[in-house]
Amino acid sequence: MKTALFPGSFDPVTFGHLDVIKRAASLFDNLIVGVAENPEKNAMFDMRTRKEILRGVCSPIPNVKVASFRGLLIKAAVRFNATTVIRGLRAISDFEYEFQMAMMNREMNLKFETIFLMPSPQYSFISSRMIKEIAKMGGDVSAFVPESVVNAIKKQY
Ligand code: PNS
Repeated sequence: MKTALFPGSFDPVTFGHLDVIKRAASLFDNLIVGVAENPEKNAMFDMRTRKEILRGVCSPIPNVKVASFRGLLIKAAVRFNATTVIRGLRAISDFEYEFQMAMMNREMNLKFETIFLMPSPQYSFISSRMIKEIAKMGGDVSAFVPESVVNAIKKQY
């Protein structure tokens, strides 16, 4: 059984993330969506909300589980029994950071592989950072994120 880990902040999850989740779930027996706990990042949604939203949107996909992790990704991957990490690649601009992270992780654990999946072009410009900015200014983000995120934003503001 091959298990992959898709790590991220998911603050909040977007249609782009969901597209990558569906693609990864079709390639692996099990997919763990790992929500990173990073106290230094000023998250819009707390961990409970992020996981709750993810569990809701992933529920139709039977081989996907949602879990949180803190600390090093390579350690979390071992804990989750995953030898492959999935990351989404939207544009060339993502590449430098992703390449660095993948190489660093592999250097720390040679068994570790990163696979990049590209979301559909219609999602290639969506980022959680922009969703947060638009949401904070009262803009409509319903074209870019699941309904549960829109509701969570309404609740928060
Ligand atoms: O959605 P994001 O914010 O782009 O996800 C980044 C994430 C959580 C995957 C990355 O920051 C990470 O792996 N954090 C865990 C700490 C770690 O392992 N850092 C070293 C990476 S080389």
